[in-house]
Amino acid sequence: MTREELLAAAREVAPRAHCPYSHFRVGAALVAGEKLYTGVNIEISSYGLTLCAERSALATALSAGAGPITQVAVACIDAPAGAPINQRTPCGACRQWLSDLAPNATIYVDGVSQDFSISDLLPYAFGL
Ligand code: THU
Repeated sequence: MTREELLAAAREVAPRAHCPYSHFRVGAALVAGEKLYTGVNIEISSYGLTLCAERSALATALSAGAGPITQVAVACIDAPAGAPINQRTPCGACRQWLSDLAPNATIYVDGVSQDFSISDLLPYAFGL
């Protein structure tokens, strides 16, 4: 799948985000074993238990028995036009999930032209 196709898939699911507190909708799409998996951020009343879109997509893929994850795309569709990169890139927790579960993936961030590897986003990542 191309970069633009995967980013489009992430943007397409983002409106399904459940984010009544932040109103900041995020979609994630990933390719694993040639199949597409998606996720959105899900917030609950205990804010700290929020599930980000990236972890949602990773959990969906792993739960489906997906193969190796080769590409991941993230789209923060409520980031203002011209928002800095840090309003678009995966959070720290998601970076660790990506490091553990998608260590060889290429990561695309909507609105950012650079492609990332996990070591770009999380150098010296913890691992067991
Ligand atoms: N969020 C994500 O879904 N992914 C990230 O990597 C960063 C933040 C969500 C969590 C919360 O629902 C909202 O964006 C605002 O932080």
